[in-house]
Amino acid sequence: MASSGLVCETDAWKDLKAHVEDIKKTHLRELMSDAKRCQSMMVEFDGLLLDYSRQCATVDTFNKLNKLAEAAHLKEKINLMFSGERINSTENRSVLHVALRAPRGSVINSDGKNVVPDVWQVLDKIKDFSDRVRSGAWVGATGKPLTNVIAIGIGGSFLGPLFVHTALQTGYLDAKDISPYPEAAQLASSRKLHFLANVDPIDVARNITGLNPETTLAVVVSKTFTTAETMLNARTIREWISAALGSGKIFGFDVVVSEVSLVKVVEKEKSKEVGIIPEAVAKHMVAVSTNLTTLHYFYTQLVEKFGIDPNNAFAFWDWVGGRYSVCSAVGVLPLSLQYGFPVVEKFLQGASSIDQHFRSAPFEKNLPVLLGLLSVWNVSFLGYPARAILPYSQALEKLAPHIQQACPDDSVSMESNGKGVSIDGVPLPYEAGEIDFGEPGTNGQHSFYQLIHQGRVIPCDFIGVVKSQQPVYLKGELVSNHDELMSNFFAQPDALAYGKTPEQLLKENVPSNLITHKTFSGNRPSLSLLLPSLNAYNIGQLLAIYEHRVAVEGFVWGINSFDQWGVELGKSLATQVRKQLHASRKNAGPIEGFNFSTATLLTRYLEASKD
Ligand code: F6P
Repeated sequence: MASSGLVCETDAWKDLKAHVEDIKKTHLRELMSDAKRCQSMMVEFDGLLLDYSRQCATVDTFNKLNKLAEAAHLKEKINLMFSGERINSTENRSVLHVALRAPRGSVINSDGKNVVPDVWQVLDKIKDFSDRVRSGAWVGATGKPLTNVIAIGIGGSFLGPLFVHTALQTGYLDAKDISPYPEAAQLASSRKLHFLANVDPIDVARNITGLNPETTLAVVVSKTFTTAETMLNARTIREWISAALGSGKIFGFDVVVSEVSLVKVVEKEKSKEVGIIPEAVAKHMVAVSTNLTTLHYFYTQLVEKFGIDPNNAFAFWDWVGGRYSVCSAVGVLPLSLQYGFPVVEKFLQGASSIDQHFRSAPFEKNLPVLLGLLSVWNVSFLGYPARAILPYSQALEKLAPHIQQACPDDSVSMESNGKGVSIDGVPLPYEAGEIDFGEPGTNGQHSFYQLIHQGRVIPCDFIGVVKSQQPVYLKGELVSNHDELMSNFFAQPDALAYGKTPEQLLKENVPSNLITHKTFSGNRPSLSLLLPSLNAYNIGQLLAIYEHRVAVEGFVWGINSFDQWGVELGKSLATQVRKQLHASRKNAGPIEGFNFSTATLLTRYLEASKD
């Protein structure tokens, strides 16, 4: 039989398959009693400490995983990514999000051209623009400073920036981040960053309720500038701004959001559509989109047609995948408007430190490589399809949604590695990709942890932070809120690993009818990542670790982690439905071209939403 080129045909893969039985015989309780083994499974880098001793793995497992990495040409693939090869072969693109945070003056080539100067040109432009908005040099149509920013975008053009914003929200007061910029602390308290993603009119209403268009700047974030949800939301906001600021003064309108399309501005019960007022749009709307140069005239035109001055558009490049774009203008612009560019620059430096480490550290000390190989081991060999991401930090509440993403079509991990064929198009005979989910501790402990302790085996990532972003309250107490939080961070991994045996329960005089209910089998793998604090730099590190981990998994599985064809079918079917809704509303024409189920649901929807 001809070779498929799949990694499962290699000796290293077969060796690991055979090794599973050995591992299954050994309980984590036993593995944890070997201090030498545990010590060898702790890795430190740039203030971060990774402890993966609670994985169902021995030193021998890692030797075998290293051989698998060799067989999968992991090192070569990492080098190809950094050197700008078009490794996203189905879209014929390089994968260079690492260039977005490369230090000024470094060299990273794409098609023989160093892209770092272009990156810094945009970063400088963002710094200049955000400084002007923040200082009040750039004002709105009525002369007021713009203190509210709505970032309009979806998927990768939303979730990464939201994650970073949520993580920075409390921590931007960290003296390390802002000490040379004391005004940032003052101004930040009067500024607000909002995100509008869902096309659901409720998301629009929630965003604009209580907002004054006079002091609002909208940033339309879309790589393609054609995504249906984003463009509809952008038009709605354009109308809201135009309606309010058209003549240079606020009118006395209420704004309601209509169901199908645009905002309606209602005056004395009368509804009237409002035109676009270019002067208001020019002052209150800017864009982030793919390279806005003459080479990409198409995108420049789209931005211009929308009414945004191309000079107020911030570029990124087709070598940046949507879900890897938070370090481009997609994230840097809205975050700089909120926190000031110097804070965001720290975030980029943190990500860059992990990039260097990922590229150069030996695999046994390389955080993203170790994490990626462990995921492959857990998914493809031990057969655990899910992974829980459990930060013991409320500020990291959007980490799991960014990695997993509530809308399952677009996530760093699930969109990247949710594939059924190899990069060469061969169907995979093994499982690849994992189901990511998570919540911050301790909240998660009171919801889904029951399943993790006594139901399904789900490998867990525990993420803890040594120094809280918040000062310690209740000073007289021996255990602060943060200590209480961290007590759980330290306890949970052991509860999962060791469990509780019937013998232990008997010794505790647990009634015999409850023994099986109270038994914990243990032997449930987890890893712990300890961060020194949660400032912009560490948040950048964390983001890059997860991004590269996903790449490692994809490289070993032999899939393309950088395309996302799986999201297209749903989009094109929605277009068909949209056309039908439009036609039916216009002339009540028949519903055609749908199966019985969809036609029935559509009929009900159209009829019931008439009034
Ligand atoms: O959901 C698919 C996707 O193409 C993502 O990859 C992307 O981040 C998102 O849609 C938004 O796309 P755009 O930035 O072009 O609006």
